Parts: sequence; structure tokens; C-alpha cells
Amino acid sequence: MKKISGYLWLLMLSFSAIAQNKYAIIPKPLELTPVNGTFVIDAQTRIIIPKGGSEQRLLAEMLAERLTEAGGVNLKIEEADVPDNLIPTHKAIVFAPFKEQVYNKMLGNEDYILKTDAKGIILAGASSQGEFYALQSLLQLLPPQIFSSTLTKDVKWTVPGCTVFDRPRYKHRGSMLDVSRHFFPASFVKRYIDLLALHKMNRFHWHLTDDQGWRIEIKKYPKLTEIGSKRKESMKGHYTDGKFDGTPHGGFYTQEEIKDVVAYAKKKFITIIPEIEMPGHALAALASYPELGCTAKSLKGTPYEVTGIWGVHDDVFCPSEKTFSFLEDVLTEVIALFPGEYVHIGGDECPKTAWKQSQFCQDLMKKEGLKDEHELQSYFIKHFDKFLTAKGKKIIGWDEILEGGISPNATIMSWRGVEGGTAAAQQNHDAIMTPTGFCYLDYYQSDPTTEPLAIGGYLPLDKVYSYEPTPKSLTPEQAKHILGVQANVWTEYMQTPEYVEYMVYPRACAIAEIGWTSARLKDYEDFTARLKTHFERLKYLGVNYARSYYDISASSAMNEKKQVVVKLKSADKEAIIRYTLDNSEPTAQSLQYQPSGVVITQDGSISAAAFSQKGERLGKVLTKYFYINKATGRKYTLVNQPKNYTGGETYGLTNGVKGEAANSATWIGFEGKDLDLTIDLGQPTTLNKISFAFLRASASWIMLPKEAEVSVSNDGKTFTSLQKITMGNTDEQSRAVQQIGVAANGKKARYVRVFARNYGKLPENHPGHGNPAWLFVDEIAIE
Ligand code: ACM
Repeated sequence: MKKISGYLWLLMLSFSAIAQNKYAIIPKPLELTPVNGTFVIDAQTRIIIPKGGSEQRLLAEMLAERLTEAGGVNLKIEEADVPDNLIPTHKAIVFAPFKEQVYNKMLGNEDYILKTDAKGIILAGASSQGEFYALQSLLQLLPPQIFSSTLTKDVKWTVPGCTVFDRPRYKHRGSMLDVSRHFFPASFVKRYIDLLALHKMNRFHWHLTDDQGWRIEIKKYPKLTEIGSKRKESMKGHYTDGKFDGTPHGGFYTQEEIKDVVAYAKKKFITIIPEIEMPGHALAALASYPELGCTAKSLKGTPYEVTGIWGVHDDVFCPSEKTFSFLEDVLTEVIALFPGEYVHIGGDECPKTAWKQSQFCQDLMKKEGLKDEHELQSYFIKHFDKFLTAKGKKIIGWDEILEGGISPNATIMSWRGVEGGTAAAQQNHDAIMTPTGFCYLDYYQSDPTTEPLAIGGYLPLDKVYSYEPTPKSLTPEQAKHILGVQANVWTEYMQTPEYVEYMVYPRACAIAEIGWTSARLKDYEDFTARLKTHFERLKYLGVNYARSYYDISASSAMNEKKQVVVKLKSADKEAIIRYTLDNSEPTAQSLQYQPSGVVITQDGSISAAAFSQKGERLGKVLTKYFYINKATGRKYTLVNQPKNYTGGETYGLTNGVKGEAANSATWIGFEGKDLDLTIDLGQPTTLNKISFAFLRASASWIMLPKEAEVSVSNDGKTFTSLQKITMGNTDEQSRAVQQIGVAANGKKARYVRVFARNYGKLPENHPGHGNPAWLFVDEIAIE
């Protein structure tokens, strides 16, 4: 091949970047063919709809409104006999009837065709939903200012020429919003729906009831909102801090507001799936009507109360006739409000404590021949499956409803992983995929030390994008049961609409593309190239989207000289990384990072950020501290291997980076296993102190070890103990880092062994009782 000159390469690269930005549609269409020419919208442009096309008129008005508001251009909407042979006509944007023969294509309800060239624009779909999606794509072909709610200056409203044929991959492309942990007004719910529609999402799952608040007016049971929609306070800081804010929180939607939101969503082709939680997450209902519990008071002996404590609660609905008729009444009012085919009945995280202690439940289980409380839960769910099926509805339940036997007509929402969805499909049930590891947008999206408080986890944009919703283990027939994918937005840590938007965007853009775009077209680099234009759109829409995509990640490794070499990475290929080593904030003048990495020779920190070519800082500053000692860079052997948590690399325990209290990902984690490590220092070495740390985060099942021991050896076989430490505070709850330092008093040895005995099974009073505890340890330092 002929060598291409650097200049030519540059030219080609910038052309492809421009081409990319020109057609920056998210989610990516199935087929997009560039066409020569550009259409310019000006005051002479007409919008044409078919005669009597009332649905097309609504769409035409949406387009006209955008152009007026953002561009000050007032377009006339004309009704005309739109010809079948759809070639763009002079100066017109035409909502055209779709004819199979003309296009030589079959279109489903959501499919569309969009043709643009210098002469005109045609939008066609077999239904108005398809045409609505054609309109979304057209808006994304216009300059991003089209989304501005105020007049923008000096924008030429051009549309690049192309022919698009588009069709979604999955039927269900959704997002759940939890309005119980924090209440959000109907106006924000509408905005949330607008943003879903912009991304061609078609389902809004409205999580309306939970322990922390009942948010839907039920006429027959007014106390549900009088009492159940209010709580006296909420948790402050992280759950693990165990603190409260002392501030009342409440709110609910009247049935009128709900009807209004449902009608609004319909115009945006979004079906709302209401969720009424049962049999767990029921405290708000129990506080309103205590007779729905198995006991008159909570299991703690106090009156039932709408709680401000996050998590899972033992007080649940009793499977009594009273509860069943109450919930039937509630659901009767719910289905009158929501015309969609599905009602979500929850079913997750229902502890069986109350039922185990209840004579009523034990007698009921005997009478119904139910072998355990899981079957009792299944009995509960099956009752409401039957009830709702008789009313022409279908139920969706979280994947726990598989336990004790799946209800005949249930669709499974797979959240604890993909196993639930897989099992459902294998049993010929439909499933919607929402696994925590890819779809929980309440998880951190960047290094937790740089992010606002979130529940935990780590789910950056690229990880969301990498998700493949159809499990490989399914046969093609079973795979048809995977209806689609959904982003779940639990709001314990999201008090405001702005914060919800921060957590949801741009990660929901990735979910939208997973749900819509054909698997073979998925390409993260291509997605992020389009995303940069999309960020502009979100900016004009006033969305408080996260720029965490531009954040830097750091990893460290050792060179041959046993020095720590820090490697910095930006997800954005065009960004320039700049850093400092003197604790100052990086600026456009700071050192430019080179791919060979930064060698760290002494204790200290590195601070880095991504910058644009123009010198603007794009993301947050990342600061990492390094501790350089005799163990740094040493390899070691482990009797048990860590699971999931490796500190980011193979030798994470001696990489010079300490685990951080706020960031689980910086630790080395062992599930149910002991730490048993031996470091070979290469030669007998004078030892003064051996130090390391453990993380305690009881709420995350991370417990301090029962005991730890450091011993040394010169042959790697016979070890002498330096100190054995019994940990006395293993049952405390608060999140903390426990530092351990063992004096070696100048002893010489080649091998150092560090042992820590895992806590074992989680104790009786722990929500995860009986499961193995995690042991988190980091940075073994030898001085
Ligand atoms: C869930 O996240 N508890 C469904």
C-alpha cells in the first residue's frame, strides 16, 4: 500500500469526523445512506401533510414549534394530496403516506423512512409512531440549536442529504423512575418523558409505591396519600452513615395529574407502566392501613411508619383476604388510569420474617399446600396475575417472582443479573432486561471520589453501552421472549430533578441505542463521536447531563526498575490529558501526558484532567496518591483469588495506591475467603513495619476479618509470626477503614506473609444473614 502522507491522513480523519457529526443520530439508525446536497429551511419552506391527516398535523406542529421557538422561522402547514411516488418536492417537508410498493419495504409500527436532499424532505411511516421517530431523526439532523427554548442567533437551518430506513431492535425500550424515595412533580415527569421520546424510547415505568412513600391518589383509600405520601425525615449522607436530615418529605399525584401525564406520554408514543409494589416494600401502605399487615404493629413493636430509611424492610403485606381485596381495589383504580397492557406488581425484596412468625400465614400455607414462604409469595403474585389477566392486563414482576414458581402470565424484569430473564425465556415467559451491572443508573458513573454521592457500584458509560440484552444461551425461539432493555433510576440519593438528569444522561443514551440499534451496528467509538453533538443538544435542552465521560481513569504498573508507572486514560480519543505532580489543579498549560506513562519515584500525588484542543477543561480532576515503599511493585502469591474486586490490576495490593473509603473499586475483595498472601522481596531485607488496611461496609456485606497475622521467613517455607491481631470491632455497622501496622523491629527476612481470616457467614441481625461476608483489603506496605 502506498504510504499516505501525514497531511492527507489528517484531512481524511477530519472528513470522517465531519461526516460523523453530520449524521449524529442517537440511537443510530439501521440504514443511513448519505446523499449529495443540503436542504435549507427558511421562511419559504412549507410543511405538507396529507388531507385530513390530524395525526400528522400534530407532528408537523411539533416541528414548526421548534423552528419558531429556536429559529424565529414561522412555517406554514398545508394539507395537500401527497403523491405516492415519494421524491422530495421543491422546498417542502412532507409527511407522506407510506406505500409498501413504492418503497419496496414492509414497515412495522415503529419503523420509518426519512429522505432528505437539496430539494426537500420526506418523512414516512406505516403509523404515526414511525413518523414521530422520523421527526426525531430529522430534528437530530438539524443544528443542535433546534432544541433551544430561546431564539438562537445566526443559525442556518440546514439538513444534510441522506436516506434513512430505520427499525428498532427491541419492542421494549424503557426507563423506570422511582418517585417514592424522592418525589418529583408531574412537570418533571413530563420532561423525563420528553427526553425518553427524543431517544426513541417507548416505555416509562413509574415506580409509584414503596416503603418511603405512596405517590398515587386512590379514591377508595384516602389515607394512602394523607398518611402514606409523607415521611418525617430521610437519610442524610450515605446509608452506611446512619444519619437523618430531620426534614419532612412528601408528595403524590392526583388522578387528574396522572391522566394528564398519561395523555402527554401518549402524544410522545410512550406507554406508561405503573408499578404498585407487593408484597414487600409496603410500609407506606401499612402506615396508612395497619390492618394490611400480619400484626397490628411493626415487627419491632412500634406503629407502622412511612420510613426514611433506605433498603429492605421486614414489614410486608399479609397475604390475607383484607389485603387482597384492598389491592384489588387499588389495582382497579390504577388500570382505569393507565391504558397500557402492563401493570408492574413489584415482587422484589420481600423478606419472609413476618410470614414465618405469623400463625395466619403458617395455617394458610398448610391449607393451600404451600411448602415454604417462597411458595406463599408465589401464591400472592398468582392471585394478582389472575385478577389482572381477567381485566385484560398483563403483569410484570421483578425476577424474585420466579422463586416458588412463576405465575402463568407473568413477564419477568431481570434485575439481579441476567439469570432471571434467561430462566423466564427458557420457560417461555417474556422478559425485560435491567441487570444492575449494566442498567442501574443510580450507580456511580465515574470515580466515586470525584462524583456526587450515589448508592455505590461503578457503571461508566462504556460499560452500559457494552450490554447485550439477549443472553447467548437462549435458542432463537427463546430469544424472542427478550422484549427489550430498560434503565432503572432509583432515587434514594437523587433529591432533585437536576441530580436525576445528571445520573441518567448520557447513560440513558447508551440504553436507548442498545434497545434500538441492531447489534451488528453497535460501536462505542462511533457512539461517542455522535454523543459529542448530542451533548450540544442536551445543553440546549437545559439537561444537566454528566460530563463524566471526559473523566480520566488511572492505573498503575511497575517498570523493570520496580518504579510505579501511572497510566492515564481518557475515554475520549480527541481529548488531551494534562497533569501535575505538585498537588495543583491541572490547567491548559500543565504537562501533557504521554502514552509511556508517568514514573512516580516518591510518595505524592498526580492530578489529571482532559482538555479540548482549545484548552477548555472537559471533565473533572482526578487525583491519585501514591505510597512508595519496599513492597511497591512486588509480585505476590495468593492462596485464594479475589472476586470482581481486584483494585484494577493483577498486583493491586502492591501498586502504590491505597484503597479509598468511598470507593469500593479501589480495594481487593474476597468473597467468603481468607486473605493469604506471600510477598517475595527477592533477598533478605531489613523490615521495620508492615502495614495494610481493611474496609468495613456492613451494608455492602463487607466485614472486617476476625483476625490477622503477619509472619516472615527466609526460605518461604518456615514462617515466624511477628504479630497476631484479633479484631474486636467486627460487628460495628459504620463504614470505616481499619488501619493495621505491625512492627518488625529491623528484622531481616525475604518473605512476608499476611493472613486475614474472613468474617465468615453474615450474622443473624444482618439483611444478608447466612451469606458469605466479603473481606476487603488494600495496599500492603513494607518499610
Ligand atoms: C430492585 O432493584 N429492587 C428491583
